[in-house]
Amino acid sequence: MAATLRAVQADITTLHVDAIVNAANSTLLGGGGVDGAIHRAAGPGLLEECRALGGCATGDAKLTGGHRLPAKHVIHTVGPVWRGGTHGEPALLASCYRRSIEVAAAAGVRTLAFPAVSTGVYGYPLEAAAAIAVATTRAAAAQHPVIEEIVFCCFSAGDLAVYRRLLA
Ligand code: AR6
Repeated sequence: MAATLRAVQADITTLHVDAIVNAANSTLLGGGGVDGAIHRAAGPGLLEECRALGGCATGDAKLTGGHRLPAKHVIHTVGPVWRGGTHGEPALLASCYRRSIEVAAAAGVRTLAFPAVSTGVYGYPLEAAAAIAVATTRAAAAQHPVIEEIVFCCFSAGDLAVYRRLLA
């Protein structure tokens, strides 16, 4: 059975899922946006664990513990910075979702939540990013039946409406 896909409006740090995905930067040493929120909620142990990972390439994903979060794991992925869409951004963003799902499945994760990677500070247009997120997640989840549920965690009502339309 392929995973159920759904969208919610929430602060991802509050979700009781096996793993949440972080929209990180390649240093994995924290930042603003959802990255800052995750590090604040997880506590200093997360940064300590991240330091040992030696960064992460754009389009790749790495696993840590959830520390003080309700989620058991954090999967840190690095989305592309939007530069007009002609610098490989769509393939790199798709890779974020695919690699996060591979890393999640390898860790035995059954419930997983994604933020809208690259659509904040990194400037990726939400509609285009959400279409890639949903299509790539559907395809990758079908390859990894250990994952039962994938949640697209939207910060705004506007983002939620876009995801709900794509999932309908
Ligand atoms: N829960 C869910 N979604 C959130 C939360 C939250 N608590 N906070 C923000 N968002 P961004 P990016 C949404 O900027 O574009 C950091 O400094 C936000 O509204 O967090 O991939 C990193 O260190 C938007 O929809 O990530 C990198 O340097 C989405 O999360 C850089 O930002 C992603 O916005 C990464 O930029």
